[in-house]
Amino acid sequence: MSLPPRSAKPRKFHNAPANAKPRPAALNLRAQVIRVIVSVQEGESLNTLLPKALEKTIERDRGLFNELVMGTLRHWFALDEVLQPMLARPLTDNRVQAALHLGLYQIFQTRIPPHAAISETVDAAKQLGQEKASGLVNALLRRTLREQTELQEIFDQHHALPDWFAKQLKKDWGDEWRGLAESLRHSAPLFLRVNKRQRSRTAYLNALALQGVNANATDANTPDAIQLLQHVSIPSLPGYLEGWFSVQDLNAQRCSALFNDANFNGLDGKVVLDACAAPGGKTAHLLEQFTPQKLIALDSDSYRLKRVRENLNRLELFDQTRVTVTTADASEWIAEAPVDAILLDAPCSATGVLRRHPDIRLLRLETDIAQTVVLQAQLLDHLWTQLKVGGRLVYITCSLLKAENEDQIAAFLERTPNAVEKPIVADWGMTRPLGRQCFPETDGGDGFYFAVLDKV
Ligand SMILES: C[S@@+](CC[C@H](N)C(=O)[O-])C[C@H]1O[C@@H](n2cnc3c(N)ncnc32)[C@H](O)[C@@H]1O
Repeated sequence: MSLPPRSAKPRKFHNAPANAKPRPAALNLRAQVIRVIVSVQEGESLNTLLPKALEKTIERDRGLFNELVMGTLRHWFALDEVLQPMLARPLTDNRVQAALHLGLYQIFQTRIPPHAAISETVDAAKQLGQEKASGLVNALLRRTLREQTELQEIFDQHHALPDWFAKQLKKDWGDEWRGLAESLRHSAPLFLRVNKRQRSRTAYLNALALQGVNANATDANTPDAIQLLQHVSIPSLPGYLEGWFSVQDLNAQRCSALFNDANFNGLDGKVVLDACAAPGGKTAHLLEQFTPQKLIALDSDSYRLKRVRENLNRLELFDQTRVTVTTADASEWIAEAPVDAILLDAPCSATGVLRRHPDIRLLRLETDIAQTVVLQAQLLDHLWTQLKVGGRLVYITCSLLKAENEDQIAAFLERTPNAVEKPIVADWGMTRPLGRQCFPETDGGDGFYFAVLDKV
């Protein structure tokens, strides 16, 4: 930023008091990226941080901003593997650590000219008050450039997962764990779910084509899904405000069909509890597919429940005579009368959706898993008491860990004599001894687990 010549008269600002402090210079884009990453290091979730940060970023820079935050976090542990041996002593400031990870990420994974990447990142460290440490950032990033061939090899070979999670994947999935780790390193494709109450998939594909958006229908098992084949701003797609579609992962779209088979026959006219509903992706899909007598969308997080209301309103599915949105703890909630069907899309480690939520790599701790498994068991046990005999509970997680999935269901069946697991016969995912597991796929959906439990 250039300073005014010394001779220039001080500029007068409207309403500025004579003794007003000068405004701090605007941070460059890397410095803003580092601030978001530091907030994640301190325990905040990208779900709240990133939309706010992107809102403040000029349109032209949003793609790069998003890419730098997501990419650096997605590869965090592989970047760390390169960085740690280069350090003479441990880093004590998160801003410096984040700057180094961001710099390395740009060198290893982007086409940004390395010298520009380094100088912008070093400037960012200075702008964030790390004038002294910026010398270290500069030196280590330049060393990385000089030794790029060997260091790139270390980066590429690392699994890019926290060690506890890599070990657990290996224990659960044997040799398959490497492929899993690799697929979690990539960004996920973007899928839409067409609101079939408003448009058919073919009609919506035509609307996208008219707007020049490159998109494909997916297979017959996900009849409402469309894969977008280019980057787009979602609100600019046709019919966003009118509720013609939602953004939803491909495998998340498999849920509603699990209530519809020869034994259960859909949710029309039934009383349905969506026990962990927010932000309402699956609630909306159920309401697009079926016309229940009543659907109760429950979640313990009242803030997240606002999103359920917004989503249902936008999709024109919030018929208040049928749909109730309630804040409650599903492990204690009591129904007026036992319900016909329950969707338990349980709180989980979210290890199946690391591609879309790379902050989870840093936020999730090994000790969280045991607590989550206990909570899932409590939810299963209590909700089972709220289900009619003849009713169905569909259990879902976006986890890759057996403890939350097939082992959880095995333990539940062991202590619940009136529960029968119905195998899901399908040509997607993997048959497991109990339930079905989807792994994240490069051109497909995220990691999910599904089990169907009938009450007899
Ligand atoms: C995987 S998310 C649900 C996603 C949602 N079904 C969808 O498709 O958009 C899990 C949800 O469980 C909620 N939750 C966690 N513990 C809960 C509890 N004890 N009772 C009710 N909801 C709970 C969380 O607030 C979170 O919204």
